[in-house]
Amino acid sequence: MKLIIINGPNLNLLGKREPEVYGTTSFDTYFSTLQKQFPAVELHYFQSNIEGELIDKLQEVGFSFDGIILNAAAYTHTSIGIGDAVKSIEAPVIEVHISNVTTRETFRHASFIAPNAIGLIIGFGLTSYDLAIEAFLKLKK
Ligand code: DQA
Repeated sequence: MKLIIINGPNLNLLGKREPEVYGTTSFDTYFSTLQKQFPAVELHYFQSNIEGELIDKLQEVGFSFDGIILNAAAYTHTSIGIGDAVKSIEAPVIEVHISNVTTRETFRHASFIAPNAIGLIIGFGLTSYDLAIEAFLKLKK
């Protein structure tokens, strides 16, 4: 199974950024534990702070990968373009958030991705990504 984690703006700062909200582990460290945890999954990773680069990546992988785990970060709440890209591709998308966005500021309650995602996993810290991989594996069976 070929999956990709796509992370949006400021998620390159995981481990340093607001550790009380997002934890103290860098995504690179976490990603190598994920690769060990799921050896049967061909797991890819992409991060960008730039909206158009995220759209380009969704288009690039969206017709060949088995699934996309997307944390579009702040663009979740603002980007019609990323929402449209999710709608335009064939690969199923799971929307992921590290924090429980529904308990935070009201502007974080809206998502342009959710209407076209197969599901959402939010609020479990970095474990949200593990759960998304598990979900793709279970759905495949
Ligand atoms: C986030 C939640 C977003 O509201 C925020 O802008 C982020 C991270 C999360 O994973 O909890 O950058 O997507």
